[in-house]
Amino acid sequence: MENKYILAIETSCDETAAAVIKNGNEILSNVVASQIESHKRFGGVVPEIASRHHVEQITVIIEEAMKEAEIDYPDLSAIAVTEGPGLVGALLIGVNAAKALAFAHDLPLIGVHHIAGHIYANQLITELKFPLMTLVVSGGHTELVYMKDHGSFEVIGETRDDAVGEAYDKVARTLKLPYPGGPHIDRLAAIGTPSIDLPRAWLEPESYDFSFSGLKSAVINTLHNANQKGVEISNEDLAASFQESVIEVLVEKSKRAAKEYNVKQFLVAGGVAANKGLREKLTAEFDKSAIEIIIPPLKLCTDNAAMIGAAAFIKLEKKHFSDYRLNGNPGLDL
Ligand code: KG4
Ligand code: ZN
Repeated sequence: MENKYILAIETSCDETAAAVIKNGNEILSNVVASQIESHKRFGGVVPEIASRHHVEQITVIIEEAMKEAEIDYPDLSAIAVTEGPGLVGALLIGVNAAKALAFAHDLPLIGVHHIAGHIYANQLITELKFPLMTLVVSGGHTELVYMKDHGSFEVIGETRDDAVGEAYDKVARTLKLPYPGGPHIDRLAAIGTPSIDLPRAWLEPESYDFSFSGLKSAVINTLHNANQKGVEISNEDLAASFQESVIEVLVEKSKRAAKEYNVKQFLVAGGVAANKGLREKLTAEFDKSAIEIIIPPLKLCTDNAAMIGAAAFIKLEKKHFSDYRLNGNPGLDL
């Protein structure tokens, strides 16, 4: 088979990223410029600042990815880019860069869904075997996605309010931890004891949906009440209790979905897949079953362009190309 190389671009949120992927599963380069330092003092991503940084960074990052991969434009088979969902201004920077490069070098253009990218990060580690189920847990998404084949995505459950990463970040802010708070809560949880009683949102018995806003409010109320009564409350214990509640629900629903849909593989995707507690618990549970569990290394869990290149390869094989009308679509469906 002739080798196929894709240059992939990702700018949906606060990471400017470019990567070159060979045959959909081999990383030749994966460059990520994080803007976290610029957003930290605002306690979250400021869309206008994100767009400005993307504009400044995009050409440098693309050049770096191409150089590191030791490749030239005529060797590429396509240019791929995240078309949505995400911040519209941020998406547009990547989409326009991709369109310009595709036009200039006469290459096919491939628009990729950001969550398809997170899921396909797993293809950079191992061959995907269908049917499979993915737990997508990020700052903007919490979903169970069933796939019976490449490119076929069926969302069987999703959050009805906050995404799990969002709940982590909000709880972290209440505990006065820096943005993004997920990794900080994870670190505190590892040294705390889950001794504080917090709710679990199971919803209807058959439902694969999630809800995290009640849990988030319960943490905020617990802290508020303790402060009013002048009672000391350990941040570590509160983090451990919050994390235990989140993980219990995620793991139970994941196990039930994997079993009901009789899948061969269970994948985890998105920024919160970097969570140590979640990784350990899911691995321990699936290791007891015949279902193979796959969780990407930390660098491929959070936003990157390598995952966009992996997802784009399937579209390249099927010749599912985009035309120059491709636009940033903040509400794109999977
Ligand atoms: O996928 P991602 O990089 O961006 C989105 O597409 O949303 O996910 C970012 C989210 C943030 O909410 C961040 O706090 C969370 O992932 N996160 C974590 C951990 N590392 C990142 N949450 C819990 N534990 C972690 N170790
Ligand atoms: Zn993401």
